[in-house]
Amino acid sequence: MKRNASLFRKKTVDQILIDAHANESGGLAKILGVRDLVSLGIAAIVGAGIFSTIGLASFNGGPAVSLLFVFTAIACVFTALSYAQFASTVPVSGSAYTYAYVAFGELFAWIIGWALILEYAVSNMVVAISWSKYFVSMLEGFGIVIPGYLTIDPGSAADAFAKLQTSGIASLSAAEKLAAHAYEIAPVIGGFHLILDLPAGLITALVTSLVYIGIRESRTASNIMVILKISVVLLVIFAGAFYVKPENWTPFAPNGVKGVLSGVAAVFFAFIGFDSISTTAEECKDPQRDMPKAMIYCLMICTVLYVLITLVLTGMVNYKELNVSDPLAFVFQNIGLDFMAGLISVSSVIAITSALLVYQLGQPRIWMTMSRDGLLWKKFSKIHPKYHTPSFATIVTGLVVGIPALFFKMDFFVDLTSVGTFFAFILVCGGVLYLDHSGISERSKFKVPYVNGKFLVGFGLLVAISGLAFYGQGIIDEWKALTIAGIFEHKLLTVIFWISWVVLSVMSFKYNFSILPVAGILTNLYLMTELGASNWFIFVIWLAIGLVIYFSYGYRKSKLAGHED
Ligand code: ALA
Repeated sequence: MKRNASLFRKKTVDQILIDAHANESGGLAKILGVRDLVSLGIAAIVGAGIFSTIGLASFNGGPAVSLLFVFTAIACVFTALSYAQFASTVPVSGSAYTYAYVAFGELFAWIIGWALILEYAVSNMVVAISWSKYFVSMLEGFGIVIPGYLTIDPGSAADAFAKLQTSGIASLSAAEKLAAHAYEIAPVIGGFHLILDLPAGLITALVTSLVYIGIRESRTASNIMVILKISVVLLVIFAGAFYVKPENWTPFAPNGVKGVLSGVAAVFFAFIGFDSISTTAEECKDPQRDMPKAMIYCLMICTVLYVLITLVLTGMVNYKELNVSDPLAFVFQNIGLDFMAGLISVSSVIAITSALLVYQLGQPRIWMTMSRDGLLWKKFSKIHPKYHTPSFATIVTGLVVGIPALFFKMDFFVDLTSVGTFFAFILVCGGVLYLDHSGISERSKFKVPYVNGKFLVGFGLLVAISGLAFYGQGIIDEWKALTIAGIFEHKLLTVIFWISWVVLSVMSFKYNFSILPVAGILTNLYLMTELGASNWFIFVIWLAIGLVIYFSYGYRKSKLAGHED
């Protein structure tokens, strides 16, 4: 076989379709319609974001975080359209990984596959931790109390204890008091305080075993779960509305724009998952018609729910109280409605389990696809003879998710998931521009509506710059005060954003780029810049590790390199 050593060797759409049909995923029953897709989408979207991370976002940004939900949803709509176009062009599972293989070649496909670990496995660590918080709160409702040191991560407990020592008990929030107490009572072994989030680890093990033996969420189960999830959220909204004190909404943005934007990771996290329905393209009755519709419906439903729930939470209690991991139950506990808090905890435990299941199923399947392409060890595509599931990849997923969930803080994973997912979204939007440019989109049965961006992208840039010149005196002054080194240190991400806009303006002028994918790239990139340099730094390290693995294994073993095995 002829060897192809290019880093950018690509799969053709035909090749992917042939491969898909040669594999077991070929010939899947085409049964899913819009309603099923919306249900699957909501199963994946509604999880730890709305049940937990919304608390942190509201704590930082106050009631105005509701507006951030709207802005983030718009960025997601642009991305959803791009996913829908890819799903209708390459209707096989594999999601963004497969799309990148077509659009940008193998190196980018690998990078995306590697970044998707952040979207699936790392996000599931957050979901597991969120599950644990509601589980503990549910048990407390039944009068069962697990020692605090078995339900928290060591970092939070140590931080709270340090704060207690330095600033005194009065400075601690209710959650911090519990954390500090957990630290104090934890057994000390060899100088280490034994502190871990046991329920988070155990639920991961349990869900992994289910996935291993092949209990797949059937359509009916998924529909029931979705109804339950939406019911909890609606219950909180409607019951909570009676306890809203409008004075809690003033000030609307207590920490200014900065405070609101510091919630980007948490808010974006809550939307992640709408893209996952693209993996079912082979099982849709009419993917090109239904996929875009379903993604947009999912986003609309979730945006409305998220905005309302943010307003209710921040209306029921002061935003400063919301830095908790179980805010939906917490707000009711706070006003003495323990029965409601208990009811919400019980239903949340069930609802969050379904989100955990979705990603725990998805991750091994992405690895399986990558392994079939030769980019990961063969074991990752090994199918269990009895259960017919990718057994090895499933176990690895369980360990990769379960162990960190025992020991780390949720916020760290939220940031990491978001940075990786933004990256994947940007590449998918960029991939649509490639499809258009290369003529492959002639084969797309659904196309992102084309509006010529020849002048519009550059025009938008000029409008943005003029807006800054006229209204952004504060920002300009801030920049003027910085030296070149200072800009490099504090504003590098913003510089990258503006340079990207200039480059896209020039390219749009040259190649008549469609404006919606370009808007997708820019809005996602903008939100990504708000995540802070340290997250980018960790992400770069993550990519570097991925590249080492690719060059030491996948590059040589890839099917496209000319290996038969
Ligand atoms: N959107 C998913 C969640 O909130 C990741 O759990």
